Amino acid sequence: RPRVFSGMQPTNASLHLGNYLGALRQWAAMQDDHDAFYCVVDLHAITAGHDPAELRERSRVTAAQYIAGGVDPERSTLFVQSHRPEHAQLAWVLSCITGFGEASRMTQFKDKSARHGADATTVGLFTYPVLQAADILLYNADFVPVGEDQRQHVELTRDVGGRFNSRFGETFVLPKPFIPEATAKIYDLQDPTAKMSKSVAGAGLIELLDDPKVIEKRIKSAVTDTGRDVLADRENKPGVTNLLTILSALTGRPIAQIEQDFSGRGYGDLKKEVIAAVLDVVLPFQQRVRELLDDPAELDALLARGAEKAQATAEPMLRRAYERVGFLAPM
Ligand code: TYM
Repeated sequence: RPRVFSGMQPTNASLHLGNYLGALRQWAAMQDDHDAFYCVVDLHAITAGHDPAELRERSRVTAAQYIAGGVDPERSTLFVQSHRPEHAQLAWVLSCITGFGEASRMTQFKDKSARHGADATTVGLFTYPVLQAADILLYNADFVPVGEDQRQHVELTRDVGGRFNSRFGETFVLPKPFIPEATAKIYDLQDPTAKMSKSVAGAGLIELLDDPKVIEKRIKSAVTDTGRDVLADRENKPGVTNLLTILSALTGRPIAQIEQDFSGRGYGDLKKEVIAAVLDVVLPFQQRVRELLDDPAELDALLARGAEKAQATAEPMLRRAYERVGFLAPM
């Protein structure tokens, strides 16, 4: 069975609609016919300052949201990145075959470091994509289900993995990004030309764990466009197009069909249906997260089992990579 690996950062308590449609939903769908590894990437979450108690809590909440979103810890390997030391260990090796220029070209790094300024930008933020490459290569993943914003990091993973293979001998499978076109990029409801992002708090963000009344209000006040026809047109109607994308993804109705259904009806009706479709997912999701967090010991036990399952793949892979590089095997 083909392998998949993916992860999300526990930087916020709640995942947002972009995380759900762009990634989590695919993860759940793929676990049936893939050997799936889904990771709470807490090592990645400390590159820009954080609060320790908050991080601990958010790692649990993130794991609970994976499960509430459909990841089955029996069929998939669900674990926390820091529970497996091999990620950081392989990252070091990969950082030694990654070019400084190559890493400098990562657009997420360029954007974030420009926002923080040089002194507030950590070395960890710079090497972040190398750690991500280690995550993926360690499990020999064939596919990495992510949103469009992660494509460049998966390409870097392929480049670095390929370089390792040609320098030290075939070791790693080179992964492909898995990015379904329809949900590759969900946009901010207030600025539908920018991606919905957890780092841009505000009325344009739909957080899955938010109060349903707030979610409803945010969709109601989503920016729409001039004109009154409900038609997808990324160029001239980015707001309406984003709402159509969300409704189509959540209901499985093709956009063309939704456009037809709405002929002669306005943006207000469209928003009502989007609200209904989002709450249909969000209400049971929140219920499930609450249940899981009610028993943190059980959740921690489940994550410990996940880390143990991950070890069976990660440990021998790291050992092989160390051997290929020329590290003396410990007795
Ligand atoms: P993160 O935590 O920022 O985002 C988690 C996932 O959500 C997707 N996503 C979106 N998809 C569609 N529309 C949006 N507006 C949107 N916003 C976010 C992201 O593409 C991602 O799939 N670097 C990764 C975490 C990571 C990782 C990995 C991923 C670390 N190691 C190994 C895959 C494999 C990140 O920051 O995702």
